[in-house]
Amino acid sequence: MKISIIGTGNVGGALATQWAKAGHQIFLGTRDVSKFEDMHLLANPNTSLHTIAESAKAAEVILVAAVPQATQAICDQIREVSKGKVVIDAMNSVRTKPEGFNNSFEAFKSYLPESEIVKCFNSTGFENMSNPIYHGEGIDMFVAGSAVKGKEIAKQLALDAGFSTCWDFGGDDKAQLLEYFALSWINLAIMQGHGRNMAFKVIKR
Ligand SMILES: NC(=O)c1ccc[n+]([C@@H]2O[C@H](COP(=O)([O-])OP(=O)(O)OC[C@H]3O[C@@H](n4cnc5c(N)ncnc54)[C@H](OP(=O)(O)O)[C@@H]3O)[C@@H](O)[C@H]2O)c1
Repeated sequence: MKISIIGTGNVGGALATQWAKAGHQIFLGTRDVSKFEDMHLLANPNTSLHTIAESAKAAEVILVAAVPQATQAICDQIREVSKGKVVIDAMNSVRTKPEGFNNSFEAFKSYLPESEIVKCFNSTGFENMSNPIYHGEGIDMFVAGSAVKGKEIAKQLALDAGFSTCWDFGGDDKAQLLEYFALSWINLAIMQGHGRNMAFKVIKR
């Protein structure tokens, strides 16, 4: 699959690497190609560097792992080229929100009405995206959104990144809940001091 990664820091870099290793074609999107700092990602297979608009245009799926307050600026650059495509929102409004919205998912829904928006890859630390294997078994990922195709693709990409299962959290109305779920991980890992090497896995009887 051709995947655009906008925001190539901790989260974008981890997923770009996992997906490149899985055989996907990765189009990194950056604000200023001449100032790109995450050069190590270009050592991954099938990976190239572009402007944000070019990367989104080249791809079938767009993952955004930038900062929530940049959502409008990013949407302005990808609006035309993201129509009908899947856009995965991996951001959490922990410290900042997009102006006028509670979270980035709401902003994407408003700014990109013709795209398939889902929230995924936001609920665990980036170290767990780089290595989702604990004791020989993959941890779980979670996806929310009402876009059917978006959800199917996000689920497949979670498996391709090494997660065991990608649980369906529900429709658009559950995107905020998935941000609270991310805050629960942050609370346990950081505030309660359990460390970032912990993860959620659903077990059933
Ligand atoms: N860190 C985690 O463990 C984790 C886990 C799950 C979800 N998240 C969420 O994922 C998002 C990214 O977190 P991160 O830790 O990966 O952050 P990060 O390492 O600081 O990377 C942020 C990226 O956003 C880009 N960016 C900043 N402003 C931008 C703009 N105006 N337009 C386009 N790109 C812009 C930066 O590009 P430049 O290099 O050009 O500045 C950088 O590549 C956050 O919303 C965070 O809450 C983080």
